[in-house]
Amino acid sequence: MIILGIETSCDDTGIALVEGSQKGCRILSNPVSSQIKLHAPYGGVVPNLAARAHLENIGPVLEEALKQADNPEIDLIAVTIGPGLIPSLLIGTNFAKALAYRWQKSIIGINHIEGHIYANWLINQTIDFPVLGLVVSGGHTQLILMKGHGQYKLLGETRDDAAGEAFDKVAKLLNLGYPGGPLISQKAQKGNPQSFDLPRPMLQTKDFDFSFSGLKTAVLYEVKKKNQGKSSRPRPRLRRDRGISKAALVSNNYINDMAASFQQAVIDVLITKTIKAAKEYRVKTVLLSGGVAANQELRQQITKKIKKELVKAKLYIPSPKLCTDNGAMIAAVAYYKKRPTLKQSWSKVEAQANLKLIA
Ligand code: KG4
Ligand code: ZN
Repeated sequence: MIILGIETSCDDTGIALVEGSQKGCRILSNPVSSQIKLHAPYGGVVPNLAARAHLENIGPVLEEALKQADNPEIDLIAVTIGPGLIPSLLIGTNFAKALAYRWQKSIIGINHIEGHIYANWLINQTIDFPVLGLVVSGGHTQLILMKGHGQYKLLGETRDDAAGEAFDKVAKLLNLGYPGGPLISQKAQKGNPQSFDLPRPMLQTKDFDFSFSGLKTAVLYEVKKKNQGKSSRPRPRLRRDRGISKAALVSNNYINDMAASFQQAVIDVLITKTIKAAKEYRVKTVLLSGGVAANQELRQQITKKIKKELVKAKLYIPSPKLCTDNGAMIAAVAYYKKRPTLKQSWSKVEAQANLKLIA
């Protein structure tokens, strides 16, 4: 069965062709058109600009996906319907519906978070349940228990900022640019994670929730302290004056050390809570996914910790390219869902900004 997967929930236009069979899912093509350069000057994604770029890119990305896969006969169209930015989601869903109408194919709407989790089924044929999924992206930080395909229980989630959002905001504070995750992790490689004593929010709480906004504020206070120490006379306060100004004499070492300390604080909380949940629910497999799962330090540290503390459990992490948004992960979810009939399929495809994985 060949599935066309379409992803446009944020700032990546991803279209993939995935072959699903008893052996699992195989990627035939998975091109992604990134909008990083477009949004970088604004320090974050501008929804209407993102939608315009999706509109421009979606046709060529489809052509590329079909070409790379040698134009196979498509059986099913899968498209992200939420959660995400409505202007972006509307482009993908409308495009998918038009294709389904033109080609007379069934269409299925997919939850983006489910897509991140199922990126793991693109690299593994069999995954033993019960599964604990840690989804860490720009919009979400959730610990999800799965007893079988499509059976989800939300164990915990962030009460404020998502982990990726915290990376992006701290990068902005440090004047590093957008998106922050890859830039912080680059700087962190050259820094000392013990340089700053940053908080590990909610590390010891009994629940499986997270909080990252206090950590971001702790970085902001450190940066302000540093700025005040360096300037000989007070500067007038501007509303947008929240990062390190060009005038401030912060060294590269300071930025590297702060990036490493911040990154380590996030990693400590993510790993501690994941291991605690995995032990309590006696899971057989831990799945890491979402854009932050592309972080090399997180990947290395969680691999080491799980080997040591959860001897019987397996850990899977998709390749960095499959951690960030792409069409193949959306197609993978569709393969494991009940295939809709052509007649039913249209009514359920509607973009929803706040779509929940667990109703
Ligand atoms: O999953 P994703 O591509 O889009 C969302 O669904 O949000 O995740 C994007 C997020 C951004 O916040 C980005 O800064 C973060 O993932 N990210 C990283 C890394 N690569 C991307 N965070 C930390 N380290 C990375 N290497
Ligand atoms: Zn995502």
